[in-house]
Amino acid sequence: MANSTIIQPNKGHYNIAEELPSWEDFSWKDIETNFSWSQTGKVNMAYECVDRHVEAGFGEKTALHYIGEQEEYKLTYRDLKEKSDLWATVLKKRGVKKGDFVFVFLPKHPDCHIAMLAAIKLGAVVGPLFEAFMEDAVKERIQDCGGTFLIASPELVKRVQRDQLPSLTTVFITAEPEQCTGDEISLFEEARNVETEENIIEWVDLDHGLNIHYTSGSTGKPKGIIHAHRAMIQQYITGRWVLDLKEGDIYWCTAHPGWVTGTVYGVFAPLLNRTTTVIHGGRFGAEEWYDILERTGVTVWYSAPTAFRMLMAKGDKLISNYDLSKIRHILSVGEPLNPEIVRWGIETLSNRIHDTWWMTETGAQLIVNLPSEAIKPGSMGKPFPGIEAAILGEDGEILEAGAVGQLALKANWPSLMREVWKDPAKYSTYFPFDGWYLSGDLATIDETGYVFFQGRSDDMINSSGERIGPFEVESKLIEHPAVAEVGVIGKPDAVRGEIVKAFIVLNKEYQESKELLEELRLFVRSGLAAHAAPREIEFLEELPKTPISGKVLRRELKAREAKKSSDLLVNK
Ligand code: PRX
Repeated sequence: MANSTIIQPNKGHYNIAEELPSWEDFSWKDIETNFSWSQTGKVNMAYECVDRHVEAGFGEKTALHYIGEQEEYKLTYRDLKEKSDLWATVLKKRGVKKGDFVFVFLPKHPDCHIAMLAAIKLGAVVGPLFEAFMEDAVKERIQDCGGTFLIASPELVKRVQRDQLPSLTTVFITAEPEQCTGDEISLFEEARNVETEENIIEWVDLDHGLNIHYTSGSTGKPKGIIHAHRAMIQQYITGRWVLDLKEGDIYWCTAHPGWVTGTVYGVFAPLLNRTTTVIHGGRFGAEEWYDILERTGVTVWYSAPTAFRMLMAKGDKLISNYDLSKIRHILSVGEPLNPEIVRWGIETLSNRIHDTWWMTETGAQLIVNLPSEAIKPGSMGKPFPGIEAAILGEDGEILEAGAVGQLALKANWPSLMREVWKDPAKYSTYFPFDGWYLSGDLATIDETGYVFFQGRSDDMINSSGERIGPFEVESKLIEHPAVAEVGVIGKPDAVRGEIVKAFIVLNKEYQESKELLEELRLFVRSGLAAHAAPREIEFLEELPKTPISGKVLRRELKAREAKKSSDLLVNK
């Protein structure tokens, strides 16, 4: 890549440059010494996120600044400690104990933080569910790991099919008793009626389960990825060196905790770094977002390319109505960051936008643009200190600079997943070659070590940063009586990166119609999740298949789609 496209850091703009060790001197062991448990070996993520700061005299510092549709308020670190201790007391009284799965199905709200921290304080494994999940997606996840406890809002609990979830014995509602039905427990009422138990924290081993996030694959059901408390080492230091968080920062991560970004960089990393976190309850809206950035004085902002593209589409005139001068550091994650967005960031927000790459399975950022380093637009950056990346060929051989192959990372690092729940065979598929974690992403690395994303090596779809397994959407569609056969792919899209497109062969008694098309979209929307619903559906007489196993050839469907759009361009 030509030198002219390299963007140097603005000197004095960031904090970390002085404290970064040289790559050779870096050791994870040195990072551990930031935590008292490096002496004892017994740990609890929630203690490190909250209680530790109160003990150190920072109880009055604002931990969370909530901006909802109806209300706005702040919670200090002391508030967060007291509330999470209180809720932990309620959960414990109702039977939650070390190792239990506690699902949390709440919108973006401080209650979601408190519920997660309370469960973690008891040594439970917390499973945050994405607020857009519908019945089937929720059921599948709780069923898979036999979840016993759920903390939900009165609205979201309606999507939980209790009659089909025998393992789920106890449901807490973040509301008053009037809003609870059947045997649901009002968490608010119970919290009023208990005395907070002292020393409620359950000290666990570093490898004890912390959270479970389900992530889609190109085949089979979503996999339950389990991370351990040990992950905090990397989550803390990437928060410090990549997000560049420090005393006095106001930080906003726009992701919901149901997506791993919202858990790791929305809940854990900022609290571990004793930052003030902004929580916005509600959906995307350009005016609203700019208003939040201005009003709360966000200094560090972590979002995603689709959101930036949507803001860009609203035009620069809108931005000029807001004072966004407090922003000093912007980051992006989840999907390819177009060089165009980086240019927009510099021109309109006076900031470089720093891309970061990681996966649910990796537990924290691995490829990053450190604020102290030059950015090459179009590149995801370089491996974080202590991380070794390579591009591997078909047989696991390391390819030379510039060659396209699978992005692989030398295992092990502190936040790497501990297991795929109840599926060791699946876990080992990530490590086909000695010592290398295989990402499933295709990439190149240039002579200077910068990594360039090229696409997925499997059929996974990335729509607005959501990882969607084609198999999950296909399985849902095939349940519909009209559908005989189906193939689902990601189709390139200017705003969302990719959109879900379904090719469908109808059963004989059904006719192609606009109504049917709409019905099929709704079927996925209401059964799985809005982001999984196909934005495009095409009806075909037959689908391309592999000659022997008869599997639908998604690759062929993709190729046809690509040809169609290039024909369109030629014929314009
Ligand atoms: O394909 C890569 C894409 O998102 C995948 C991981 O998805 P998920 O586990 O849902 O994300 C968790 C937190 C990021 C990757 O395999 N991806 C992630 N970051 C980038 C990216 N693609 C391009 N550029 C990125 N910075």
